[in-house]
Amino acid sequence: MPRQLFAANLFFEPSTRTKMSFVVAERKLGIETLDFQMESSSVVKGESLYDTAKTCEAIGASMMVIRHQDDDWYKELTNNLSMPIINAGAGKGEHPTQSMLDLLTIYQEYGTFSGLKVVIAGDISHSRVAHSNAYALQTLGAEVYFAAAPGFEDMSMDFPYLSIDEAVEVCDVLMLLRIQHERHSRKSCDTFSYLEKYGLTREREQKMKAHAIILHPAPVNRGVEIDSCLVECPRSRIFKQMENGVYIRMAIIQTLLQEWGMYHEIALEKC
Ligand code: CP
Repeated sequence: MPRQLFAANLFFEPSTRTKMSFVVAERKLGIETLDFQMESSSVVKGESLYDTAKTCEAIGASMMVIRHQDDDWYKELTNNLSMPIINAGAGKGEHPTQSMLDLLTIYQEYGTFSGLKVVIAGDISHSRVAHSNAYALQTLGAEVYFAAAPGFEDMSMDFPYLSIDEAVEVCDVLMLLRIQHERHSRKSCDTFSYLEKYGLTREREQKMKAHAIILHPAPVNRGVEIDSCLVECPRSRIFKQMENGVYIRMAIIQTLLQEWGMYHEIALEKC
């Protein structure tokens, strides 16, 4: 009998897309998912991420998917757990599986990254999506630009800035980001005027190149960073990104389980 594999999806921050698409990906691959709700777990009694993860390992988890508010949560785990650990979001640091599904969505559109002008627009300084995507896209040959309201820039990253009006005219891909209010120390933005000043209005969308596409990792704040009517417009790939999230996460899980010598157990079970 092949060994049954169990995935522990430990989400210490809210999630709709990432969590559900990991569950779908795991179940499509024949992996059992362990139910973990932070609010009803022993985390509320003070148990740490480290002890929660070690507990999952002790009771038989074969892999873990973790989202946590700390930028560096994975550093204390990687040398102390004997299983694949997938980063489903680390504070404002990195969101690698989101980046990979974004890359897939862009590649499906253009078949290359070389020379593509990609503008990442929004709350750059608090966005793990911006951090993961900017370097990945640059490495693959895209020209990466940022557009941000004052105070939302990240000057530790060496990328040129455009105004949103410049951005819409030059971009092949416009990747919009929401304002990450939960990572701000104080209310830093008037969302009422944000769309007109810094967001994608209908007027700006009409200035985009005919082939240019709109991405957004979501959740979308309709009427803030993007006019609500543009979320499902012909150039929007926002829901395609979510669909691609399942496929990319299946591929990541399969690759990691192969590397850890566990994938044949799934393959056997599916025969
Ligand atoms: N894009 C993304 O990470 O969405 P969730 O927070 O809903 O998982």
